[in-house]
Amino acid sequence: MSQKIEITRIEKSKINDLDFNNFSFGSVFTDHMFECDFIDGKWANPKIKPYQPISIEPSASVLHYGQAIFEGMKAYKDKNDEVWLFRPDQNFERINKSAVRMAIPEFPDDLFYDALTKLVNIERDWVKHGDGRSLYIRPFVIGNDYAIQAVPSKNYKFMIICAPATLYYTKKLKVLVADKFSRAASGGVGYAKAAGNYAGQFYPTRLANDEGFDQVIWTDANEHNYLEEAGTMNIFFRINDTLITAPTTDTILDGVTRKSLIQIAKDNGIDVEIKKLKVDELKNAAKNGSLKEIFGAGTAAVVSQINAFQHKGELFELNELDNSYAEKLKSNLVGIQTNQLADHHSWRYKV
Ligand SMILES: Cc1ncc(COP(=O)(O)O)c(C=O)c1O
Repeated sequence: MSQKIEITRIEKSKINDLDFNNFSFGSVFTDHMFECDFIDGKWANPKIKPYQPISIEPSASVLHYGQAIFEGMKAYKDKNDEVWLFRPDQNFERINKSAVRMAIPEFPDDLFYDALTKLVNIERDWVKHGDGRSLYIRPFVIGNDYAIQAVPSKNYKFMIICAPATLYYTKKLKVLVADKFSRAASGGVGYAKAAGNYAGQFYPTRLANDEGFDQVIWTDANEHNYLEEAGTMNIFFRINDTLITAPTTDTILDGVTRKSLIQIAKDNGIDVEIKKLKVDELKNAAKNGSLKEIFGAGTAAVVSQINAFQHKGELFELNELDNSYAEKLKSNLVGIQTNQLADHHSWRYKV
């Protein structure tokens, strides 16, 4: 039996202060948040309360050693105002996988689902229907010992906050294939949704942005020969009519969107190959015309088409396609998420 969640409601919702047609993703938060502390060896005092600042001491371990993990998931509203999560079991499994790697205690499953569904239910007015609209949900955990010793924290805070979302990338992307910096090394924490993985990308990504690229496509840290993933998306390549994506090793985040698109592609009779693709193979395919599409896949980005990439100063541009796999897979995925298409794999989860 899950612990009882204490609920304190906001007096007056902020929802009418927001112009839902004009805000930037991840900068506006809903009325409530979930908070739970790990103290004396157990998760305790679960609460839903008005969204507000938290108080931690300057010695809090997360501020010094970065013991922090997070998740990203979305809730969708259908035409009948029912609210749905998409494969929340995958996010639950992944946050605990990240937790184990970062020496953070795992979170109990009954409390995770109870917190998630109660919070999203309270915030259901913030979930809008329509093109690309959803509620982004951010569970996260931080080390919260008040001691600057470089050891795993004994105390933690698990929280969930929610942000209304619209489309993340609305244009086709131009990306830089990494040949110097790395995102994740073998044996490291690349497969975990660890906060530091993102901080480490900011500088090289900013350098790429300054040169006019939207994102960096990371390659293996050993030799920069193999294509891995983007900063917040897994990557798919269509060579001839085969869809190729990298296997999820310990340097790649095992994306929920990636595994869903692989299944949807197979359901649509599209050949999918999960294999390590060399940068040189990609360049050759671009040169001989067999490279038809590149796209990223992630909860925030959904399916984002990439129409140009550069590697070691060589720029490759892709032609427009009539029968794009990216568009087909995206409309299938969004159709399932928003309860417009049949859910053959039981991915939807009603709130
Ligand atoms: C590094 C990285 N890769 C891939 C993804 C895509 O994962 P998902 O589809 O589960 O959102 C994300 C986003 O969460 C990410 O941060």
